[in-house]
Amino acid sequence: MKEKVTTFTFDPETSLSRKGFSGLFRFLKGFRIIYILSITFLTFAMTAKTTTYILLRFFIDKVLGEKREPYWYPLVAGGFILLALFQGVCTFLSGKFAARTAEGIIQRLRNYLYNHLQNLSFSYHDKTNTGELIQRTTGDVDTLRRFYSEQAISLGRVLLLFIINFIAVININLKLGLISVVVVPLIVLVSTLFFRVISKRYQEFQQQEAKLTTTLQESLSGIRVVKAFARNKFETEKFDRDNSEKFRRGKRLIYLHSAFWPITDLLCGFQMLAGYLTGAFMTINGTITIGSYLAYSGLLIWIIFPMRMLGRLIVETSKAKVSYGRILDIIEHKPEAIFSGKKKRINSINGEIIFKDVSFTYDKKTPVLNGINLTVKPGTVVALLGHTGSGKTTLVNLLPRFYEYTEGSILLDGEELKNYSKEFLRRIIGIVEQEPFLFSLTIAENIAYGVPGKKTTQEEIVRAAKAAAIHDSIISFPKGYETLVGEKGVTLSGGQKQRIAIARALLKNPKILILDDSTSSVDTETEQKIWEALETLMQGRTTFIIAHRIQSLMKADIICVLDKGSIIQQGSHDELLRREGIYRKIYDLQSRIDEELETEVKNA
Ligand SMILES: Nc1ncnc2c1ncn2[C@@H]1O[C@H](COP(=O)(O)OP(=O)(O)OP(=O)(O)O)[C@@H](O)[C@H]1O
Ligand SMILES: [Mg+2]
Repeated sequence: MKEKVTTFTFDPETSLSRKGFSGLFRFLKGFRIIYILSITFLTFAMTAKTTTYILLRFFIDKVLGEKREPYWYPLVAGGFILLALFQGVCTFLSGKFAARTAEGIIQRLRNYLYNHLQNLSFSYHDKTNTGELIQRTTGDVDTLRRFYSEQAISLGRVLLLFIINFIAVININLKLGLISVVVVPLIVLVSTLFFRVISKRYQEFQQQEAKLTTTLQESLSGIRVVKAFARNKFETEKFDRDNSEKFRRGKRLIYLHSAFWPITDLLCGFQMLAGYLTGAFMTINGTITIGSYLAYSGLLIWIIFPMRMLGRLIVETSKAKVSYGRILDIIEHKPEAIFSGKKKRINSINGEIIFKDVSFTYDKKTPVLNGINLTVKPGTVVALLGHTGSGKTTLVNLLPRFYEYTEGSILLDGEELKNYSKEFLRRIIGIVEQEPFLFSLTIAENIAYGVPGKKTTQEEIVRAAKAAAIHDSIISFPKGYETLVGEKGVTLSGGQKQRIAIARALLKNPKILILDDSTSSVDTETEQKIWEALETLMQGRTTFIIAHRIQSLMKADIICVLDKGSIIQQGSHDELLRREGIYRKIYDLQSRIDEELETEVKNA
């Protein structure tokens, strides 16, 4: 079969439903024909099976009973073989279509979920555990996959098996047929009760599994902290606790399952007994023939089998329903509309930014930014200085609309920022995050990450790397730019990561450049080199620099000192030095430290 990537063509609004099972069935959209094909072939297969018993009846009652001519024997034998062959082919085709339905639906769902997660807002990701999301996109999706590959098809199969064989039995004798299904209401009742309890328990189990995934994910990504603080034992115990709880919940679930089976088996056993006895009495009385009885005893098994299966299916479906709900929790969050905005297609902007009384809060309670007023002329450099937690990162994060400012307005080239699409803003803004993240790709690919589609030349990558003062380090690696970053490749130092992130932002050739504490992990000499290189690169771009060392930002056109979300001082380095205030204090303090260091180095 040719590999086909199914895209998420279904519209979640109409494909999803919180109500009962209808959501699960709406998911079949687009695969209904294949699903029906699968069930149709199954029907053929089952009809062939049932026909075998009817042929048996014919053979015993007519061929043997009426002592027909010998040529009937090979004919009947041939009939059995043909039926078996036909049944085999149909079963195979049915299985094939069933698999395609299940895998198709799940592939589409996975793609959809992944795409959806990529497009959820920053605030959603701030609030949601990665472990929880991983659990839902893997564990729960897999439960659904099992549902579609097994239960959804089995459901059709079970119903059909039951109906076809029931009709066949009624054909033999109506009374016998009715007696063969007396326990059906009881089985449905018991299954429904279990359905309720198992749903609840399964939900608890999945929650615990998500917790375990979170614990694992956090302790692994924070392994350095764990080791540095010698908290291995604590982490191990925590994992053990969560794991034991998962075990306990899993056990409870299995107990429930194992309690369910004997109950239905007992019911089915009674049913079998009642059927066989009634059939036997009827044969002795002469109500039905021996051939009919033999056929009936075969058919009865195929009536009871679906009854047993039905119970199991109802119970398994409860899990699918729980997982479906957990996936829906994610899908129901609206993705960010990154393409909407009145001004979508703008070729060039000047890069003038004006903040007017801008205020912002993350949680609608504590203000993080208060009445920010700032005018940034195109192509100038603004530096932000302030205590940790004063709101510097928050302020620059408003520009690509990672978060929406709650009050006031920000104008970009005189136009309200909210009127530009996020996609556009993120295209023209190059940002070096405070804690840059590199992917497990080669260094070259990491640098070119921000320029999708467009083929970036090696020269451009090297130029960006040189500007970020990282070129020399890169070529010192055995594989140079083709060195893999991360687990399978080099482990980069904090400063190297920062410089690669700078190169990545520069390669984008952004109109607005944001450097959030981007040189905090490099030594003073390297920092000097980066600033020298950046100085030429910053020309023509509006640049925001966040730094803690005055050395790094004194050349900026405007320096803003932030405190508790407000700008308390604003001006050029010289202006600010002339004034009494916090800037001068910081400057004096830092100069003194530098001087002391210098004398110490000299005396050493
Ligand atoms: N995603 C977030 N959700 C909620 N609150 C946040 C979030 N990010 C930051 N904050 C809060 O906002 C305030 C300002 O944080 P911000 O990161 O802007 O500070 P900063 O000036 O960049 O500090 P630093 O110099 O340490 O980087 C802090 O009190 C912080 O707790
Ligand atoms: Mg910050």
